[in-house]
Amino acid sequence: MELAKILSKENYIVGLAARRVNLLKKLQQELPNLSFVKYIDISKLDEIEKNINELIIELEGIDLLIISSGIGHLNEELDWQKEKETIDVNVLGFTKTLNIAVKYFLKKGKGHIVGISSIGALRGDPVAPAYDASKAFISNYMEGIRSKIKKAKLQIYITDIKPGFVDTDMAKGEGLFWVMPPTIAARQIFSVIKKKRDKAYITKRWAIIAIFLKYMPDWMFYKL
Ligand SMILES: NC(=O)c1ccc[n+]([C@@H]2O[C@H](COP(=O)([O-])OP(=O)(O)OC[C@H]3O[C@@H](n4cnc5c(N)ncnc54)[C@H](OP(=O)(O)O)[C@@H]3O)[C@@H](O)[C@H]2O)c1
Repeated sequence: MELAKILSKENYIVGLAARRVNLLKKLQQELPNLSFVKYIDISKLDEIEKNINELIIELEGIDLLIISSGIGHLNEELDWQKEKETIDVNVLGFTKTLNIAVKYFLKKGKGHIVGISSIGALRGDPVAPAYDASKAFISNYMEGIRSKIKKAKLQIYITDIKPGFVDTDMAKGEGLFWVMPPTIAARQIFSVIKKKRDKAYITKRWAIIAIFLKYMPDWMFYKL
């Protein structure tokens, strides 16, 4: 939401897509520049392409696609439905959306795709195993596509945003720390987008946690 507001203020024509169209329409009223709203459920794999293409037509083409859609369940009981839902949205829906966007930008010869993974991509999570695994998948997938595009020396950029905790509905559970207001996170994400960076931790200080997580020995990690 906050990122859409910044983009609109910066004169981007924004297309807003998700399932709760009523919330998107409410957000649309707060945007200073022209915007469009589209119902898209990225877990419905057969419908994504048609819906994205319709939105692209309304926007008369796009230069930037941000894939922020995601769900996260605390799932200590390992309920299969919750694990599956997470994989359907965060892995299959995300990957299909990215696939459609890459092909669109390859045809156009330039473009920018931003995917929101998570600091959670770095290690497994005992309470939300499917969530962290899904973010590891998309982070690695974006790296693969980025590498393919860089080898071909194309003007297409793939940015992986790895947020720590941001104060939205998604930030659930005990022991959260450094929880950032969405306004600050959105400002930093916009700055990363403008620089077309490959990857970034949001907010910046989460890069310190990332180093700990990456290099912490397993025995220590299991005690956390
Ligand atoms: N907040 C955090 O602490 C945090 C940390 C790391 C990473 N992230 C990631 O940041 C991204 C944005 O999350 P947020 O923090 O802004 O939380 P949020 O407010 O809950 O946003 C999640 C968005 O995903 C959309 N969505 C969920 N399922 C969808 C589906 N099947 N099809 C289309 N859209 C769907 C939701 O809209 P509808 O429900 O209306 O479809 C909602 O707009 C997520 O990918 C999340 O994993 C968040």
